[in-house]
Order: sequence, then structure tokens, then C-alpha cells
Amino acid sequence: MLVLDFGGQYSQLIARRVREARVYSELVSHKLSPDEIRARNPAALVLSGGPASVYVEGAPQAEPGIFALGVPTLGICYGMQVMARDLGGAVEANDVSEYGKADVELDGSAELFHDLAPEQIVWMSHRDSVTAAPPGARVTASSPTTPIAAFEDPARGLYAVQFHPEVVHTPQGQRIIETFLYDVAGAAPAWTPAAVIQEQVERIRAQVGSERVICGLSGGVDSAVAALLVHKAVGDQLTCVFVDHGLLRENEAEQVVETFGTHFHVPLVHVDARARFLGRLAGVSDPEEKRRIVGEEFIRVFEDEARRLGDVRFLVQGTLYSDVIESGGDLGVAAKIKSHHNVGGLPADMRMELVEPLRSLFKDEVRRVGEQLGLPERMVWRHPFPGPGLSIRIIGEVTDERLAILRAADAVLLEEIRRADLYRELWQCFAVLPAIRSVGVQGDERTYAYPIVIRAVTSEDAMTADWARLPHDLLATISARIINEVPGVNRVALDLSSKPPATIEWE
Ligand code: XMP
Repeated sequence: MLVLDFGGQYSQLIARRVREARVYSELVSHKLSPDEIRARNPAALVLSGGPASVYVEGAPQAEPGIFALGVPTLGICYGMQVMARDLGGAVEANDVSEYGKADVELDGSAELFHDLAPEQIVWMSHRDSVTAAPPGARVTASSPTTPIAAFEDPARGLYAVQFHPEVVHTPQGQRIIETFLYDVAGAAPAWTPAAVIQEQVERIRAQVGSERVICGLSGGVDSAVAALLVHKAVGDQLTCVFVDHGLLRENEAEQVVETFGTHFHVPLVHVDARARFLGRLAGVSDPEEKRRIVGEEFIRVFEDEARRLGDVRFLVQGTLYSDVIESGGDLGVAAKIKSHHNVGGLPADMRMELVEPLRSLFKDEVRRVGEQLGLPERMVWRHPFPGPGLSIRIIGEVTDERLAILRAADAVLLEEIRRADLYRELWQCFAVLPAIRSVGVQGDERTYAYPIVIRAVTSEDAMTADWARLPHDLLATISARIINEVPGVNRVALDLSSKPPATIEWE
């Protein structure tokens, strides 16, 4: 299924919702020609929303001929308006915009709505409206403000909705998408983790042949799943390199070695580079300097190991579909261009060909593939963790002593968060060690020790984040345990800042 992107804020979400219905979908540019579309043989097309009015100069247009392809097509919001305008209907500006929830009356005999109650709540976000459906099409929904809230012309395979079925505020939206996919387009819900694994394994085998492959493991879910896929495909032609820079959380290094080396029997080079990294970080307080040092050192260590392995032609990289889309896409998606660096600092100039088995997957799909491959729950659902690790959660200088304090406090925090069953609800939760000390009293003794700051946030994508409202009793337990169990800490504080204006990390 192809989602033609007209630049709307929900375009990517449409592709994800289609995949949630277990139909493979890709987000492509609205400029794809009918011939290019035909060549890809999609079961269906969706025309996304867009920011503009169809009449504004420079507004994205549908390529002539796409409505005559005979491929079932659903226009959403702007996509509906493009369809109406191009096929002889009419679109006009409303006096007022319609944003938010709206009550619509659906025609229960419409193909798209056949299993729904006639009264529905939907999410609207538009200024222009269709004021005449194309000749031959039937109006199938209306709201008080938008008399033509949907139309369809099943004989030509054309369907259109003014509202957004892809957002959660349209409670029956997923049902509508599924009706379009299964009943209208006849697509089968066959895009399952097992199918993804099978397809990727075949692709990797075809690409790699009998050559050797190297993969850097970070402990995160992306590199772990990428490595397991490649190992499933080409077995011991793969060598994983795990660089322990000493900036990981408690037990993380052991977990990587146990999971990959012992459990999955993946050939694993475990590089204990802790002393090397700490040596280079000695005396460094500036956050960007820390990042630079860790990144640079990582590349050096990785290159040394790659060289030691001899003739390796392929490098595994955990690039995700969202990275592909954000950097312009394989097929020139219209969305905003953002440079990205996803690889946790892998060498950019290494002369190896890339193997990218996650290139077509969203993060949640990577997790489901990971589960299917038997990756432990802790790794599958691990919170995002920065490449420079704990070095940017220790304000000021990174020393053995300060790392030990932060690691111990962080372990207590995460243990209690898991015990309270909140880990999966939080985007990230971690301890921060500031570069100040304060006075306390313990037993009969005056102390002068570090505080620990608890940082817990909810978020969808890390672009914005809200500080998490953790229960007071839980905070009390965490605070008491950290102060009692972690030497060198006499105070616990909670970070009550959202992003923006604060960032998630402290450095
Ligand atoms: P901020 O702190 O900017 O973080 O709100 C947004 C997300 O990015 C992660 N982050 C990093 N990840 N290297 C990384 O690989 C870094 O230097 C880095 N800095 C922040 C952060 O954990 C959050 O998920």
C-alpha cells in the first residue's frame, strides 16, 4: 500500500496505522508518476492530508492520471479535496476553520462505513471543504459544518473522507482504515513479524552471499534486532563487536554478552575499553567535549577491531524507516529534510557496504520483530539511551567514583519503577548526578555529599516531553532507598521540567 504524501502532519501516521492493520505500507512522494505507481503494483493508495489549500499557488497536486489507475484510492482531508477538485467536484474555503472533534452522520450503506453506527465522533482539521462531490460519487457522511464529510464512487474505486481516521481522536478510525484495506482493496493482513523476518533473511542472504559481516552492538534494541536478523540469515559469517566504554548502566554490559554470546551463540568480540574512555574523559567537564571524545574514541576502537577481523565486506546498521523518511526518503518523500545520525557513532568513512535490515521498519515494529526473535523483554523495551551514556548524566567530570554513585542510584530508581509497573509507560527514566554537594546529617555525623536528581518523562518522539507525575509514595521509596543504599548521596530531588524549554538529558 502506498501513502502519497502531500505534506500533512499525519502522513507518517497513516503509514503506521496501515501497518498496524498488518498490511505493508510505504510513504512516498505525491509526485510519483502513475507509471511509477503502476510499476510498484500497490493494492491501494492513500492520498494524505496537506498543509495547503488546493487553490494556493504551489500547492501540491496529484499527478494527472492517478485516479484512472484502477487502484482503490482513499483521499484523506487535503487528499479528498484534491480528488474532488481534479474529478469535477468543487472545493471552497469555509468562513471558519474546523479543528477538533466533530459529530458526523455516516451513511451505513456506504462501503467504507458498512459496519459502523451512523453517529460517530471524528477528528477534523481543515479550512477548505468539498462543496460538490465529483459526478458519479455519492456523499456518505456529513457534519453540521461540513455537509460533504465523505464521498465514494465504488465503481471507480474512489473513496474520500474529510476527517482523519488515522488519529486516535477518531475512535472508529482504525476500523475505517481496515475496511478500506481488507474489504475494499482486498489486501490480506499478512504483514506480521514472522513475515518480516522471513523477507529480511532472504534479502540479507541475497546481499551478503558468503562474505563476512560486522555489527556494532550498543545494548539498544535497534542494533540488537539488526544483529539477530543478520545472524539468522548468514550465521557465523557475522561477528558482533560490543565496545564497553564504561558508561553503561548497571549490568548492561553483562546482559549484552550473556544474550548474544551465551544465549544466541552469536560470534561476539567484547572489547573492554573502559579504562581507555575514562582516561580520555579525565578532567573534561564540557558536555559537547564529552560527546566528541566518546564518539571519536568509539570509532577508533571499532576500527581497530574491524581491522583485526581481516577481510570484512559488510557493516550492519540499524537505520529505521523513520530515519529514511526524515532524511528525504528512498523515493523523495516531500516531508521535511532532517539530517540524522542513527548509528551511535559508527565510522562514516569505513569502506564497507551497508546492510540495513530495519530500513523498512518503524520502532514499534522493530520491537515486535525482536520479541519474535526471542530477544529478552528488557532489551526489547529498553528506554532510549544516549550514545555517550552516563557521561552526559554526570554533570562535570566523569570519574570512577562518580560513575559508581550514579550507576547505583540509577539501578535503584529503575528497579522501583519496574516494580511499580511504570517502566513501559515512561519514555525515559534515569538518575542524574549534579556537580554540587550539600550538607546533611546521617547518624551523628554531618555529611557533605551529592544529591541525585530523578528525571522521568513521557513522550511520543523525544521532540517534546512532559515530566512524569510519579506517585508520591513511589518517590518516597525511591528517595529513601537511594539515600540509604548509595554511599556518597544524602539528598534526592525531582526534575519537574518539560521539554521545551528543558531537554530530556541534563547535558
Ligand atoms: P534531549 O536531551 O535533547 O534528548 O531532549 C532527546 C533524545 O535524544 C537522546 N540524546 C542523545 N542520544 N547521543 C545520542 O545517541 C547524544 O548525544 C544524545 N543526547 C540526547 C536523549 O536520551 C533523548 O532520548
